[in-house]
Amino acid sequence: GDVHFYDFVLTEENFTRLCSTETMLAVNGSIPGPVIRVHKGDTMYVNVHNQGYYGVTIHWHGVKQPRNPWSDGTNYITQCPIEPGSNFTYEVIFSTEEGTLWWHAHSDWTRVGVHGAIVILPAIGTTYPFPKPDDEEIIILGSLYSGNLKSSVDEALHSGIDLPHSVAYTINGEPGDLCPCSKETTYRWMVEYGKTYLVRLVNAAVSADLFFAVAQHNLTVVGTDAHYTKPISTSYILISPGQTMDILLTTNQSLGHYYIAARQFWSHEVGVAKFDLVNATMILQYKGNYTIPSSPTFPSNLPLYKDLRSAITFTKHFKSLANKDYPVYVPLNITTRMFITLSMGGIIYHNLTSTLEAMAASANNISWSNPTTDVLLAYYRNISGVYSTDFPDQPPSYFNFTGDDFPNTLTELGTKVKVLNYNEAVEMVFQGTNLVQGAGFHPMHLHGHSFYVVGSGPGIYDNVTDPKSFNLVDPVEVNTFAVPKQGWLAIRFVANNPGVWFWHCHMDRHMTWGMSSVFIVKNGDTTETSIRKPPPQLPLCEASFRLRLE
Ligand code: C2O
Ligand code: CU
Repeated sequence: GDVHFYDFVLTEENFTRLCSTETMLAVNGSIPGPVIRVHKGDTMYVNVHNQGYYGVTIHWHGVKQPRNPWSDGTNYITQCPIEPGSNFTYEVIFSTEEGTLWWHAHSDWTRVGVHGAIVILPAIGTTYPFPKPDDEEIIILGSLYSGNLKSSVDEALHSGIDLPHSVAYTINGEPGDLCPCSKETTYRWMVEYGKTYLVRLVNAAVSADLFFAVAQHNLTVVGTDAHYTKPISTSYILISPGQTMDILLTTNQSLGHYYIAARQFWSHEVGVAKFDLVNATMILQYKGNYTIPSSPTFPSNLPLYKDLRSAITFTKHFKSLANKDYPVYVPLNITTRMFITLSMGGIIYHNLTSTLEAMAASANNISWSNPTTDVLLAYYRNISGVYSTDFPDQPPSYFNFTGDDFPNTLTELGTKVKVLNYNEAVEMVFQGTNLVQGAGFHPMHLHGHSFYVVGSGPGIYDNVTDPKSFNLVDPVEVNTFAVPKQGWLAIRFVANNPGVWFWHCHMDRHMTWGMSSVFIVKNGDTTETSIRKPPPQLPLCEASFRLRLE
């Protein structure tokens, strides 16, 4: 494959949105940031220059990084932050992925502005498993916050007050027509009649599942998370934070202007009064001569905020192609089985001056706490005391998660990882808790691997009857998939990528509260199945820096 070089310069920039000007960290001056365009099999080097005020890392979401966790860009998991005034070059190899992915900051909530699309075209000499589209368009859904996000997140974590809520959603950086002071800058997509476009859709919003629809146009989903799917013909989409979708759209309607809209799903956390702010729009505009309508048509099929049924129905459609060109390798003989509860609940922090009860989120009632040296370096160099290897395969027996309310058990803080042998066949069943109250979906994301979604269902998972309904024939292959509200999700993968890999809910509110953990995948027997050497100039944490000097 080819080799590509990019420079990402991160600076604090002023952006005017929703009638006010806020400072946001951006890459090369724009939000969304630069598009990466490669072919399958290519390699890229991205030199990230941090000219902002705080340390950052950048993650290449959905890129497996074979044997190279050093470039995964997860703060305190695979590296320490790139400090202000310094730079670091990521080496990213595109091995098996094909379609749309994205990159984003993986340090604090700066991914509000620090994100962009990755387009991975079929390898030279190969093509799509569908007729070649006439053209393509990238659509990135995002979210806006007001005030200084860094200090509100820090304050929330140290005081027990709520983490920030977004004030609006955006499409390609703009909230669109229906939001205050936003009409002039609404994003417009000019199309020609009678063409088929490939839409590369990314949900980069920090903490929201979004419904998405195009007025009077049907959508055909042909891929998700850089894996092709059996075509799904639909009038609306639900996309979780972290997910990407490849969608065909044919411009077969009368010449005119049509809204493309995105609306939050399950927004009870947002408060009814704010609903109007969350309809982000852009305009699909046909080229040609016609009378311009006073207002574009709004998509009548866009589901309402609490339409759980439409949300679940959509997620059930995904199936992989599962043919000889795109085979499925779902593991059948599982060697590691994990049942993991995902909960929202309370935690008690103790610090020198006080004891404080705060919000927390957990996996098996453990709330992830970042170490001060990254897990990868600690593992690679055998530094003890950074993490423990006792992340449990089951929730603790005292933990009653089946009720409707928040489990009235306090959550335990910990930096507990799970160690997997090379080529371990893993099944994870994620169980949503707080069945009536609590959160909406939990979009679970795994680094370093893709996984197969073999099953999902309502209520509490039954390990005798539910596996009988698993799809082991053509399950979709993804890196992020939502655990349904009031239900469970079962996934399978082979741990064939040695390294240190974060997994977490992609709602940053939940991740920040601790709904995450880490897999360490051990080396195989050969050099080709072992972690590569660390790159020179790896950003070190203060603690590991000191250690290196000793
Ligand atoms: Cu999209 Cu852990 O990230
Ligand atoms: Cu979540």
